[in-house]
Amino acid sequence: RLPVIIDTDPGQDDAFAILLALAAPQLDVLALTTVAGNMGLAQTTDNARRIVELAGRPDLPVHAGCDRPILRDPRPVPEIHGETGIDGWDWAPARHPPRPEHAVDFLVRTLSAAPEPVTIIALGPQTNIAMALRRAPAIRDRIARIVFMGGGYFEGGNMTPAAEYNILVDPEAARIVLRSGVPVTAVPLDCTHATPAPVGWSETLRARGGVVGGVVMAACAGMMEFFEIYGNRKYGTRSRPLHDAVAVAALLWPDLFTGRLCPVDVECAGELTTGMTVVDWLRQTGAVDNCLWLNGCHDPDAVYDRMADLLAGLPR
Ligand code: BDR
Ligand code: CA
Repeated sequence: RLPVIIDTDPGQDDAFAILLALAAPQLDVLALTTVAGNMGLAQTTDNARRIVELAGRPDLPVHAGCDRPILRDPRPVPEIHGETGIDGWDWAPARHPPRPEHAVDFLVRTLSAAPEPVTIIALGPQTNIAMALRRAPAIRDRIARIVFMGGGYFEGGNMTPAAEYNILVDPEAARIVLRSGVPVTAVPLDCTHATPAPVGWSETLRARGGVVGGVVMAACAGMMEFFEIYGNRKYGTRSRPLHDAVAVAALLWPDLFTGRLCPVDVECAGELTTGMTVVDWLRQTGAVDNCLWLNGCHDPDAVYDRMADLLAGLPR
């Protein structure tokens, strides 16, 4: 099984993604590390604990990390994810606290000692990962790949015309990650908008996905509605994407997605474009191909079918 660490800021779609990863027999989730993003750090950490406990994995370590981006102010978005970040379901309070060790210390220690390289799934601003890479550059050889949800090139941004949320919140961190030399797969809006949940999928999930499927669907319904209205108003698209869950799907089922290995960097100083992922799709710069940029999905229905099957395997 592929050893993975999930760095996250739950977030309804993060919740979905984490449950999928925990349900996937191909993955061995070693721990969750949390970061400030959709909500403040205390809330994202508490949410992470609630999610692993719901999945029947109270043993899974959760380490709280950075409570703000490297240079910038935090940017919580309760208007998208609700006051708790995982609104929509009456979640049981967490029974166990997070581990005392800071997420950056945990990443450095665990990766340094890892018997085989670990895959990192990054579902929020990339502050913890960038800090760990700066602090202990040698860990880059112990990271098999970083799969991150973030950015957008063909679809533009969802916070500004140029910038997607996870990158906009901490563009310096994303730049450090992309320039680190670690193999990176990006799951940007180009890919998540091309992988919308099918109409009526909530009912399918409730029927096939057990209690956990029902819980997650309830928690995600508001967010999906938001994205549909948002997509319609802003871009004329009709997307109901579950962004972070698509990142886990892309790791699990790469055959269902399309993309290209090419040079990618982040704009950190643009007056209008800060947080933009600049994708050299036609390879005009001669820069190193540092990122597999996913831009589409062959069969979104198959993705969501497989997700429902996996979730059905979690404890009821
Ligand atoms: C990303 O931003 C967050 O609000 C979501 O959890 C996802 O990681 C989508 O732009
Ligand atoms: Ca997220």
